[in-house]
Formats: sequence, structure tokens, C-alpha cells
Amino acid sequence: MNRDLLIKKMKSINNLPTLPVIALEVNRLLQLYESPTDQLVALLEKDQSLVVKILRLVNSSFYGLRSKVNSVRHAVTLLGFNTVRNAVVTVAIIDALALKNILTDFDINSFWKHAIHVAVMGRYIANKTRLASGEDAFTAGLLHDMGKVVLAAFFQEDLIQILRTMESDRINFFDAEEKINSCPHNLVGSFLAQRWLLPDPLIKTIQYHHSKADRSEQTQLIAIIDISNRLVHMMTGDVGYSLQTEENQENDGDSKTIMKCLSNLQNWLPVIHKEMNEACEFFNKV
Ligand SMILES: [Fe+2]
Ligand SMILES: [Fe+2]
Repeated sequence: MNRDLLIKKMKSINNLPTLPVIALEVNRLLQLYESPTDQLVALLEKDQSLVVKILRLVNSSFYGLRSKVNSVRHAVTLLGFNTVRNAVVTVAIIDALALKNILTDFDINSFWKHAIHVAVMGRYIANKTRLASGEDAFTAGLLHDMGKVVLAAFFQEDLIQILRTMESDRINFFDAEEKINSCPHNLVGSFLAQRWLLPDPLIKTIQYHHSKADRSEQTQLIAIIDISNRLVHMMTGDVGYSLQTEENQENDGDSKTIMKCLSNLQNWLPVIHKEMNEACEFFNKV
């Protein structure tokens, strides 16, 4: 499907999920070159339920802080803008994607489990290789497939056909989308990410996280999420995934660095499994 048609289709949906105004404002504010702390704190404090969730997240084991963060101001000064923005985006999007009209054939619990697994895997690779910030990789992993939720709510006939094609042809989701020429979830997700003013690297990662996607660029974050996604699918036993990539990408330095850091399976697999379980348990309660 061509991009113009997709955009036209997306624009015709008038009840697409929205981010709370505050989360949008935070994104807008952090796009400015110098965003003042006071302004950010004042903005966040307007939404106390968001504050509670952000503090819960930054005080969780993910952030490994020694002392407890009790206020948004403390969080911003201690953790910085990027961390707070990642926390805001995470909690706001989990809420925004809790749609009521999701196709029952689409297993939303498995969807989030996969997203959390990719987030944990991505963060591990990012920290180990230092190719990207671990936190950015976590957020990108969590949101990489968010377009699928939009398909499950607003493109249900397409999704039914995708699921059927996956089953009958034993191919993966992305290949099935391509085969039936439906709206690809990576483009649907990046459309929404753009609308929500998410940071550019996140929009690009959502857009290009499949090796076979029409990539106009390859960044380190994209390489990390692409490989994490394939690894997690393989760990889950899903069909149609392998670590083999097309020739040009196999030779790219970032992918090589990533594959090297993953070569000692016995070193990282138990750690990752534990972290994945902890993360799933945490987000289940968010
Ligand atoms: Fe995907
Ligand atoms: Fe995925």
C-alpha cells in the first residue's frame, strides 16, 4: 500500500487514540532547544494521576535508584529530561492504547508481553554495546509494534486476513501484511508517533524496525530493536523469523557489534529471562 493512501486512510479515522494533552505538551516542550525545568515540573504537576504513575515507574527496579524519588521536581533534577520524557511517554501510551474496540482475535496480552520482552532485550543490547541509551531502547522496544493495536481497533478486516495468512502460509506478521497489501503496522505506528510528537529517533525506529521495511536509513537504535524483535520472536517460537538478514545489513558494523555481544548465550539468557518476567509483572500492574 502506498504511503499517501495510508495517510489518507489514517486521517479519515476520527477517533484515533490520543495522548493526554499534558503528555503532548511535554513532548512539545522538550522539542525546544532549552526547556526550563520549572516549566516542565509545573506542567506535569497539573496531572496528579500521571505523576503517581511516573513516580511509580522511576522508583521501580528498572531505574535502579538507591533513594526514593518523591516528587516530579526531584525526578527531573535527578534523572534528567530524557528519563522523565521516556517515563511520561511510556505511561501515557500504555493508557492511550487501552482501547475498548479491540478485535477479540487479537491477543492484547501477548502483544504487551512481546513489547515488554523486546524492550528488555533492547535495553540489554544498548547497555552492553553502548550503541544507544538503554532507556531509549526500552521505550522504543515497548512501542515498536503499537501500529498493531491500531489495526486491531480500526482495520479489523485487514487484521483478520493478516492472521489467516500468517497461519496458512506460515509466515510472519509483516510478510503477511505485505502479501495482502494492507496498511503495514510499522507505518501506522509511525504515523501515530508523529502525531503524538514523539522524539524523532523513536518515530524512525517504529517505522523501520523490520529489516525488510523500506528503510531510508539505518540508525543504531533501529538495528537494536530490529535484532531484539527477531530474537524475541525466535525465543517465543514464532514462525518466519531468523537472525539472517539481507546481505547489506549483515555487513553493517552495528549489527556485527550486536551479534558479537549476544554470542555468549549462557551469559545473558538467564539474566534477560529474569528481567523479562520482572518487567511483565510490573507493567501488569501499571
Ligand atoms: Fe513489528
Ligand atoms: Fe515486534
